Amino acid sequence: RHGAVVVFGSVNVDATSYVADFPRPGETVHSRDFRVALGGKGANQAVAAHLAGAGVELVARLGDDANAEVARAAFARFGLPTDAVGVVPGEPTGIAQITVAESGENTIIVTAGANASFDADAVRSEAARLDGAALVLTQGELPVRSIEAIAAASDAAGVRFVLNLAPPVAVSRSALAVADPLVVNVHEARTLGLGEGLADDASAETWRDAAASVVGALARSIVVTLGDRGAVAADATGSWSVAAPRVAAVDTTGAGDAATGVLAAMLAEGRALPDAVRAAVAAGALAVQGRGTVDSYARRDDVLALADRTEAV
Ligand code: RIB
Ligand code: NA
Repeated sequence: RHGAVVVFGSVNVDATSYVADFPRPGETVHSRDFRVALGGKGANQAVAAHLAGAGVELVARLGDDANAEVARAAFARFGLPTDAVGVVPGEPTGIAQITVAESGENTIIVTAGANASFDADAVRSEAARLDGAALVLTQGELPVRSIEAIAAASDAAGVRFVLNLAPPVAVSRSALAVADPLVVNVHEARTLGLGEGLADDASAETWRDAAASVVGALARSIVVTLGDRGAVAADATGSWSVAAPRVAAVDTTGAGDAATGVLAAMLAEGRALPDAVRAAVAAGALAVQGRGTVDSYARRDDVLALADRTEAV
């Protein structure tokens, strides 16, 4: 089933420092641990979907530097096919400088590098990758015009398009409109006018109703992730709320990517939206319990076992 889920997305190498508290401007703090590992929202989501059992094609761009080898070694370790991972001569591989505090929160600085070279023309040159795909998935770390080209190509090919608008970038309303689902957290949602005026900690039911009130107009379907509270979803047939299991978070970096990748894998195998969201929420809850992104992602059986213990209401 190689290629059922086609991920157009970013690849970064994450350089992560683990500190007690974030440094303030002008302050130097010592880190307790430092890691270099595969990251980038595209790569993270591709690995998550792959571990969930989907056939995954990652369409992405590396630089021609030493970090490209870090990424390639990780792809090989996970057994992720890399036929569509190209190299941009003269560019560095995308980099993320991450700081994780004891609270489990993080700050991230991304330098796009080769990801920025994956422009709309490059996307169109890869459009044949959509042949036979069940679903296309992308995120906000590619150039805006590229995201719009991916949306248009998916729509033209009749392939389901899943857009995780993270980080929130100004894509056209027509690209959003074909998203099925549009996946956003509460901050990203507000940049689109979804949940404007709602507090972060407004009840899940309130967020569910907010998503239900704009679905159809904004996107074909919508998933709003609520962090450690779970997620809500809406499509033309209804709306749902899925509570997350209580867990102790050690590192939330890339937990949203674990959720989105698993969501895509479940939808690609034909599961209904509320079922796919239950698996996504479970995947996120498992990912926050380990350090790093892909190295903390769970395999299909563990995700589904935890999902079985949750409900969509
Ligand atoms: O979502 C987490 C990811 O965001 C990290 O892996 C980092 O690369 C940044 O892109
Ligand atoms: Na993690």
